[in-house]
Amino acid sequence: MAKTPIDALGPPELLRDIAHVLLTPEQIQQRVVELGAEISEAYQGKDLLIIGVLRGVIFFVADLARAITIPASVDFMSISRYGPSERTRGVVRLIKDLEEPIEGRHVLFVEDIIDTGFTLSYILNILRTRHPASLKVCALLDKQSFRLIDLPIAFRGFQIEDHFVVGYGLDYKQRYRNLPFIGVLKPEVYAPPPATPN
Ligand code: PRP
Repeated sequence: MAKTPIDALGPPELLRDIAHVLLTPEQIQQRVVELGAEISEAYQGKDLLIIGVLRGVIFFVADLARAITIPASVDFMSISRYGPSERTRGVVRLIKDLEEPIEGRHVLFVEDIIDTGFTLSYILNILRTRHPASLKVCALLDKQSFRLIDLPIAFRGFQIEDHFVVGYGLDYKQRYRNLPFIGVLKPEVYAPPPATPN
């Protein structure tokens, strides 16, 4: 498929750090609609509760929930992470719990991206102790290159390679979440070249 020119997707100040578009708004929406249909069929007649962990997932949850054609509730949790390194992100703390009880309900835990799997593992462990009727995972992006804990993903949007992706909720230092597409960040943004000695 031909690459979408970045210029067509937003103003230059939003786009200058993006190397290329990985998934266009149209590709994302088409897949979200497909996932919504799959989920609606799988949970027909069941009490479906969609749970997301803030913040990046709100864009995906907002679109996915509207693509689901059966009654469903939506709730969010929030966590904070200890440790300066990306690879120590498994050490997390719950800072906002759910508003709704989940016992006896069919819970679909929704993620924008699963990378190491630490966050997913942590959240699923919490949710399991609350005795939902069922507990499954829906992830828009499945990035397997650094997976350390592998857990089943029932509904998967896209499997992606080892790119640093931003947009459609995904951030780097809290920026780029509001891009309407998913793009690959230019390496010089997150790994600037070392300063050359004089
Ligand atoms: C992202 C994403 C997942 C997590 C996945 O959250 O939303 O929660 O990383 O990574 P893992 O599989 O390595 O644990 P992030 O920490 O970027 O926070 P955000 O949702 O606020 O963007």
